[in-house]
Amino acid sequence: MSASINIKNVTKTFETMTALDDVSIDIKAGEFVTLVGTSGCGKSTLLRILSGLETVTDGEVTCDEKPIKGTNANRIMVFQEHTLLPFLSIRKNIAFALKGTKLYKTEKKNIDHWLSLAGLTEFANKYPHQLSGGMRQRAALVRALAVQPEVLMLDEPLGALDNFTRMTLQDELLKLWQEQNNTIIMVTHDVDEAVYLSQKIIVMTPRPGRIKEALEVSMSYPRNHADSEFIELRTTILKNLNYAKEVKEQYEEYSI
Ligand SMILES: Nc1ncnc2c1ncn2[C@@H]1O[C@H](COP(=O)(O)OP(=O)(O)O)[C@@H](O)[C@H]1O
Ligand SMILES: [Mg+2]
Repeated sequence: MSASINIKNVTKTFETMTALDDVSIDIKAGEFVTLVGTSGCGKSTLLRILSGLETVTDGEVTCDEKPIKGTNANRIMVFQEHTLLPFLSIRKNIAFALKGTKLYKTEKKNIDHWLSLAGLTEFANKYPHQLSGGMRQRAALVRALAVQPEVLMLDEPLGALDNFTRMTLQDELLKLWQEQNNTIIMVTHDVDEAVYLSQKIIVMTPRPGRIKEALEVSMSYPRNHADSEFIELRTTILKNLNYAKEVKEQYEEYSI
């Protein structure tokens, strides 16, 4: 199950600060979209708006053409900082999330599967404070996946993980997305990750938060980091973010 998301001319201001300026994005049902950009360009604010935790100052956001008003179990967000319940074990955190949905009866037998996917089988009965930061992040991610929302919003979900765990979870995320067919909107700082995972990449720039470019990615899955098309797209994005200047240009910028 999945739902479409439409973001139309959205502006969000916090007092005098414009966090988002006239942002429009069309997201198809079942599409995997990533938002890429430096810190402060409004990525988290946009996800908070889509999850219903924040309202727009101007513009419109809809889910399956209905205005987004408040939170809904069909639109789940995994925050940059994990939000596991501190007084429940990891297993019970997943069970608790499932209990809020119709899936509990059929899915409670799969909790061990989710724990194993996150590499947390041995830590199932531990509490969040007994886990490392990366483990907590993995637990929060599989807790959201277990609930099978129509729209899954992920705010740098793999940010605190070491490279190998990160690559394993990227593949698991792709597999689950292909199985569950949900709409995924993911924030990442990692351009490689965006190219590896998504069908659409939204490149954003800060102050005010704007869309620099929306790139459609037609490469089939699984993708290869070493393909020329992969490398070309990564370079285009880095250029858009001003991280791939010619050496001469860099030299001129810093010379007096
Ligand atoms: N609740 C808030 N109150 C005031 N300013 C905020 C608030 N949330 C975000 N901002 C500001 O909006 C801008 C965008 O923030 P954010 O969406 O967190 O960016 P990103 O996730 O891309 O790093 C930042 O300058 C941030 O300081
Ligand atoms: Mg953020």
